[in-house]
Amino acid sequence: MNIMIIFHSVCGNDYLVAKKFEEEFKVLGANVTLWRTADQGWVEKPGLTPEAQANVHAMRAVPLATGEAMLKADGIIMGSPTYFGNVSASMKAFMDSTGKIWYEGGLAGKKFAAFTSAGNTEGGADLCLQALHTYAKYMGMIAVPLPITVMPGEHTNALGIIQYSQGKYAEALAPLTARTVKGFAAFFLRV
Ligand SMILES: Cc1cc2nc3c(=O)[nH]c(=O)nc-3n(C[C@H](O)[C@H](O)[C@H](O)COP(=O)(O)O)c2cc1C
Repeated sequence: MNIMIIFHSVCGNDYLVAKKFEEEFKVLGANVTLWRTADQGWVEKPGLTPEAQANVHAMRAVPLATGEAMLKADGIIMGSPTYFGNVSASMKAFMDSTGKIWYEGGLAGKKFAAFTSAGNTEGGADLCLQALHTYAKYMGMIAVPLPITVMPGEHTNALGIIQYSQGKYAEALAPLTARTVKGFAAFFLRV
C-alpha cells in the first residue's frame, strides 16, 4: 500500500506525529512518504533546545506536498496544527490548491486519516480534525476512524490523533500519542 503523509507544522509537534506514522507504516511493510505544506513565512525561533532545533531542521527538509503525488497514493494521512479551532492557513491553501483533483474525482475511494496538534485540551482540536475530515469527504475519500478498541481505557478521539503541546516547540512525542499512532497505523492498514 502506498501511503502519503501530509502535514503542516511550525513548532514541530505535527511533524513528530507525521514522523511516527511514517515509522510505524514502514514497520508494517507499507510504502510511505512524508510531505509538508508550504509555509514561506516560517523563521527559526532563536534559543530553541537542541532537541527542538533538530526537529524543526528535519521538518524543514521534508519535501513540499503536491496534488499529483496524492493521485499515486492508496492512503492519505493529513495533519495540521489547530489554529483558531480550524486547520492552519498553510494546510487550507494546500487543500484549495487541489480543486482540479476534486472535480475530477482523483482522490475518490482512497483511505484517509487525520491528526492535529493543539495547544490545550479545550482548544478545539476536534474542530481541526473535523475540518480535515470535511475535506476528505468532499474528495470522496474513505475516512478511517480511531475506534476506542485501538487504545482501550485511554483518552483518544474518534476523528484522529491529537498531540497536545501547551504551545511549546516539540522535543519528543507524548508517549500516549506514540502508542496511539502505532495502534492507529495498524488499524488503518487492516480495515
Ligand atoms: C495562530 C495560532 C492559532 C492557534 N489556535 C489554537 C487553538 O485554536 N486551539 C489550541 O488549542 N491551540 C491553538 N494554537 C496553538 C497550536 O495549535 C499549538 O501550538 C500546536 O502544537 C502547534 O503545532 P506545531 O508544533 O505542529 O506547529 C494556535 C497557535 C497559533 C500560532
